[in-house]
Amino acid sequence: MINNILNKVGNTPLISLPMEENSNLNIFAKLEFYNPTGSVKDRAACYIISRLLNEGIINKDTILIESSSGNFGVALSAYAKLNGLKFICVIDKTTLPVNEMLIRLQGAEVICITEPDQHGGYLMNRIKKIQEILSTTDNIYWINQYGNPLNAQAYYNSLGKEICFEAPRQKLDYLFMGISSGGTITGVSRKVKEMYPNVNIIAVDVYGSVIFGGKARKRFIPGIGSSMRPDILNDARIDDVVYVNEEETINSCRELLEVHNLYAGGSSGSVYAAIKKYFVQNEVDSQVNIMCVFADRGERYITTIYDDNWCEMVKQYSLSTSLEPVIE
Ligand SMILES: Cc1ncc(COP(=O)(O)O)c(C=O)c1O
Repeated sequence: MINNILNKVGNTPLISLPMEENSNLNIFAKLEFYNPTGSVKDRAACYIISRLLNEGIINKDTILIESSSGNFGVALSAYAKLNGLKFICVIDKTTLPVNEMLIRLQGAEVICITEPDQHGGYLMNRIKKIQEILSTTDNIYWINQYGNPLNAQAYYNSLGKEICFEAPRQKLDYLFMGISSGGTITGVSRKVKEMYPNVNIIAVDVYGSVIFGGKARKRFIPGIGSSMRPDILNDARIDDVVYVNEEETINSCRELLEVHNLYAGGSSGSVYAAIKKYFVQNEVDSQVNIMCVFADRGERYITTIYDDNWCEMVKQYSLSTSLEPVIE
């Protein structure tokens, strides 16, 4: 018996995704949307707050602050509340109303940035706002998912371990993960390479993200990609990167629902699209075990990926721009 659902982080289901068109690919997905607040980010939120409290880095009066427009904000607001901590979440005007509602309902103070930065996005201004607040507030701690080593440690100690021990017949050839702050891929890749040194770790990024170089461009699917390169990634063990576009993501999300009965979030579609794309370019002539991470559930994308009008708008935008990433 558990006394609070928020204590049930991790040990998410692993399911097989049979692929008719290529029987050499044994694909297994970790369904991270079975975490209590609905995403992989529960692992980081729960772990980081516990470590900070246990090690006396913060106390019961410390205010937590973070920039997040999505899953991490939702998860942090829940775990801050569970621990009786005040949490300030800095979002921006592109944040989906459902995420803002969930963050507010769990007691967090929300600061919404409405002025775009020099890149046309909001990240730099969100961080500027955090720095302003840090300089004028006592006993405040910035979680800083892009640079805090605890973010990667959370995944090293939980998701990384689970993947190692759940790999079918202790054989793991490929592991595909979406990337944004880089916490998941950094922690998981370090753990998994210890047990499976020959595994190929494949990062899935979206066109318009600058994580691996290239120019920032308008991105529509929340969750993955970033308009800055996270410092945390310096410790990651990544073998290859696959870029996907919005249309591939949308089509794959819908295929997951139609073929596998999985109502998954955007980055799950991106990851599934990336697997299919990768093995068209890199044919295999024997059976390979591929694991991947499905980070969140479809509900939060009801007004985007699962909305036909929105999908048509994105398609028209994509047609009017070049989809190839610009690597500098
Ligand atoms: C839906 C989704 N997928 C993937 C990721 C990538 O995780 P990370 O920030 O650990 O790189 C995130 C992060 O917010 C996410 O929300």
